[in-house]
Amino acid sequence: LDNGLALTPPMGWLTWERFRCNTDCVNDPDNCISEKLIMQMADAMASQGYKDAGYEYVIIDDCWLARQRDAKGNLQPDPERFPHGIKYLADYVHSKGLKFGIYEDFGSETCGGFPGSEFHMKQDAYTFAAWGIDYLKFDGCFSDVRDMPIGYAAMGHFLNKTGRPIVYSCEWPLYQAFKGIKPDYAAIKETCNLWRNYGDIQDSWASMIGTVNYYGQDVDNFTQYAGPGGWNDPDMASDYSLSYVEERVQMAMWCIMASPLIMSNDLRNIRNVSKALLQNRNLIRINQDPLGKQGAMITKNGQISIWTKPLSTGGIVVACLNQGDDGRPRKIKFTLNEIGLTKQNGYNISDAFTMRYMTVAKPNSNIVMAIDPHGVQMILAMPLRKRK
Ligand code: DGJ
Repeated sequence: LDNGLALTPPMGWLTWERFRCNTDCVNDPDNCISEKLIMQMADAMASQGYKDAGYEYVIIDDCWLARQRDAKGNLQPDPERFPHGIKYLADYVHSKGLKFGIYEDFGSETCGGFPGSEFHMKQDAYTFAAWGIDYLKFDGCFSDVRDMPIGYAAMGHFLNKTGRPIVYSCEWPLYQAFKGIKPDYAAIKETCNLWRNYGDIQDSWASMIGTVNYYGQDVDNFTQYAGPGGWNDPDMASDYSLSYVEERVQMAMWCIMASPLIMSNDLRNIRNVSKALLQNRNLIRINQDPLGKQGAMITKNGQISIWTKPLSTGGIVVACLNQGDDGRPRKIKFTLNEIGLTKQNGYNISDAFTMRYMTVAKPNSNIVMAIDPHGVQMILAMPLRKRK
């Protein structure tokens, strides 16, 4: 979407994967969807290095609404869990130097059963702008997917009319794909800044790697549509059940896939190694590269796949992924030629996680690596200039 926003993949934090539709603030006051949770996450984003690393948006997903609109038909938050209202919360997030996002649904109800935007899109867009919203995630439950091309475009039109810059996150292709309709990615890219195309991510290796494999297959050729202003969205980065080695895979793959980096974890309680990984500047630089090319899978042989992503600097990032779970590290051997890196002067190769120099390689030299089970190795290949 050409609205001047999301020129690189959006970065932030969202409630859903970790905190779901927990509305029970009586028994679980620290984890329910409430203004307190959002304020604590904004505090953590600002004070624990995330903001400095580039994470910007704090976003509430489903289950923030009251069960009914007000007498004028305006949306209102649950009064117990958001006693000061949404404008107050947006102001708080803004006071931390961050941006604030919210969730609604294109249909009659949100997936959690709260009032949807159907027949209220214009009104809701203006409500969001008046509250100081900077990002809208627009879900697709309780709707007719055939209405999505017009309906999603209508909401985008109203958001634009408010005059407030609002990143527009859509779920249109995902719901259409569920119903066997081939998404029109060209239209989606014109309408949305990011769009989900695969099922909800869950907190497991199987779910995360299933998403990666869908991206590797490039179903409906969606990879080519990613670029400044519009991104394929493989969903959030979660915590808990992944091992550190598996978390490295998710972070590496989300960076090579130029994916929005939207965390959904408990920033109040996170392992130091995970935090360092989420804030790894070398990886974030790959994710945020201004060229905005989504990396693609080049080869897959059994459990091993190789992906590449070109950068604006002329460098190429290469990720080697091992989905196998037999205990020993897998040895792999390939030449740069085989994965399309053919510059005869050769390449300077460094480790993409650390930017530590590794070697110089010609297109036909062998690259040998050992990759842990459920692990990844990622390198940066910088073309060497011709000697004078
Ligand atoms: C379905 C979406 O795909 C999820 O990301 C989340 O927003 C839930 N709905 C909320 O109900």
